[in-house]
Amino acid sequence: MNPRLGPVLAIESSCDDTSVAIIDKEGVICSLVSANQDLKHAPFGGVVPEVASRQHTEWVLPLVQVALERAALKLEEIEGYAVTSRPGLLGSLMVGVVTAKTLALAMKKPLIGVNHIEGHLVAPLIRDRETSDSHNFDCPYLALVISGGHTHLFLVESFGKYILFGETLDDAAGEAFDKFGKLVGLGFPGGVAVDRMAQGGQVNAFEFPRSMIHDASFDFSFSGLKSAAQRLLEGRSAEWLKEHQADLCASFQEAIVDVLLTKLERAMDELGLKRMVLTGGVSANSRLRARAEQLAKKRNWQLAVPALKYCTDNAAMIALAGQLRLSRGERDKMDLGPAAAAIESDYFRRNREQI
Ligand code: KG4
Ligand code: ZN
Repeated sequence: MNPRLGPVLAIESSCDDTSVAIIDKEGVICSLVSANQDLKHAPFGGVVPEVASRQHTEWVLPLVQVALERAALKLEEIEGYAVTSRPGLLGSLMVGVVTAKTLALAMKKPLIGVNHIEGHLVAPLIRDRETSDSHNFDCPYLALVISGGHTHLFLVESFGKYILFGETLDDAAGEAFDKFGKLVGLGFPGGVAVDRMAQGGQVNAFEFPRSMIHDASFDFSFSGLKSAAQRLLEGRSAEWLKEHQADLCASFQEAIVDVLLTKLERAMDELGLKRMVLTGGVSANSRLRARAEQLAKKRNWQLAVPALKYCTDNAAMIALAGQLRLSRGERDKMDLGPAAAAIESDYFRRNREQI
């Protein structure tokens, strides 16, 4: 492996979390500071792009400053800059990209734009001051990236070699949780609230569809689940809803978990793998984690679920991916811009192209 370039400072601002991290020359995260915007968006029932960009603009440089202080480093000591440049909300990405480019230009240091999904994929490999000794997870592994924006099943062969086996055809898993949360009166974002409420409910109290569970592909679909919930809840009184809230949440959640884990298990078998990863905000789900652990135990597989701060959107994962790319000599120029494209052909390949 190439000697690592470091320390590298990374910025993540693809959606509604502003995050800055620094990774040292040994590949250990030495600071991570994030500002979550949930409270700013909650009154609107979803992420408002203009509000997100404005918050990033206000917070990004103060966070750079705090990240440097926590790492006990000066800006002059940073050897490279990494930034999420795709995919995401364009206005949000722009704030991080322009900030990172300006820092790199002013400090005369190299710059790399990182794909956000690559960040999620390498999250289980992050080492920090607490985990650097006990770390024993490595490639190849199967990774299920599940968040408000993604439901992707990837084979990670090695750093930079990702094969996409399946993705959602409509809503992302987190989006389904969020829409359902709103329907049952738990507000936005709904994932954590549904998870918490589900703990007091019966998983088979209501029947929800498990779309595409037996489909030969590894693709997912969650829009039917949302429509089924809408039909079930139509015309119900507030009292009924309250009385059945826990059962509704538990049953809905179980449908998502069943589909995710059924596909994951089959993909593990077909690919003959022994290591699997859950990452992205939805991997915080307690039922999913518990059932994935049971599955791993039963099949004698290694399961890695990154710590929550590395599962949800964060700059540490961008710092790691960016450092590895910079260390290979990869560079972006000052005309780097944000891009909406998620899966580009340079280092992500689709399974279909392989057959
Ligand atoms: O990775 P993330 O922070 O941001 C995106 O890239 O979207 O993921 C946020 C998503 C939201 O949809 C949220 O509702 C969901 O993750 N989420 C959960 C839980 N915690 C967060 N979904 C289910 N159960 C949870 N405990
Ligand atoms: Zn994400």
